[in-house]
Amino acid sequence: MEDSNKNILITGCSTGIGRCVARGLRKRGWRVFATARKKTDVDRLIDEGFESYQLDLASSTSIESAVKWVLELSGGRLDALFNNGAYGQPGAMEDISRQALREQFETNVFGTHELTSMVLPIMRKQGYGRIIQNSSILGFVAMPFRGAYVATKFAINGMTEAMRVEMHGSGIQFILIEPGPIKTEFRNNAREAFFRFIKVDQSAYKEKYQGWIKQATKEETTKVPFTLPPEAVLEKVIKALESKTPKTRYGVTTPTHIFWILRCIIPRRWLDKILLKAS
Ligand SMILES: NC(=O)c1ccc[n+]([C@@H]2O[C@H](COP(=O)([O-])OP(=O)(O)OC[C@H]3O[C@@H](n4cnc5c(N)ncnc54)[C@H](OP(=O)(O)O)[C@@H]3O)[C@@H](O)[C@H]2O)c1
Repeated sequence: MEDSNKNILITGCSTGIGRCVARGLRKRGWRVFATARKKTDVDRLIDEGFESYQLDLASSTSIESAVKWVLELSGGRLDALFNNGAYGQPGAMEDISRQALREQFETNVFGTHELTSMVLPIMRKQGYGRIIQNSSILGFVAMPFRGAYVATKFAINGMTEAMRVEMHGSGIQFILIEPGPIKTEFRNNAREAFFRFIKVDQSAYKEKYQGWIKQATKEETTKVPFTLPPEAVLEKVIKALESKTPKTRYGVTTPTHIFWILRCIIPRRWLDKILLKAS
């Protein structure tokens, strides 16, 4: 890396991709502001030697306070933002309540957008900056029974595409990372969200859900095909941050590359069948 003093703000560093990217970038000489939703995780990150602060994407006050903290430490400079924090709300769309959908969007979309909008004036003043969006394969293909999460990732992709063009000539780059299955706490957290909001007994999909609940406990020991470790995402984030001319999107895992092509070349109903099978 040319400038060893570059700094980055990362959301959702308690586990998974966020934690892996925070550690990996620090090793490469980046100054990492590693944020987490819960205080206990912030304390743990500080013990690990990170500059860390609480940032809950569902709270505007929390976002504002975290940005203030970063700017105080960095002397008003921010080179990059990795929008990583998010969770998945599983369940058929008709079983997703307004509240469940609202919470899903509050974190994955509204919080991410608010944080991004807050750092853009800083980057604009600098005349440079990179916003890396941790989207998903589900930001461009819709898996059944993941509709709420899919909607948030499609929204992130749409906003990112628009902002990339809006920012033309500003020196600020918007880059999408689109992982497929990555081994993290994502599935465990999604399971919690499922049980929090989905009323299995009242659903038309009751039997399907019951099958999944059984399967989910088995999944702990069964490897999901094509799953990669979070380091695979780190590799692409490094490219997005450090390449002179980064790509607009980086796919991660074989399913992402395959579905990116499939969605362009096969009829939609064939794709639906494949997605139904994959779900
Ligand atoms: N794992 C995959 O297969 C996969 C595939 C494609 C895309 N992704 C994306 O990768 C990103 C990271 O997920 P992961 O796989 O690393 O899962 P993970 O281990 O569950 O990590 C998710 C992180 O997001 C944080 N988060 C959740 N709600 C938040 C909120 N309101 N405010 C701030 N942070 C919040 C979590 O914090 P807590 O620990 O406090 O909940 C955690 O730190 C997400 O954007 C996800 O959509 C993951």
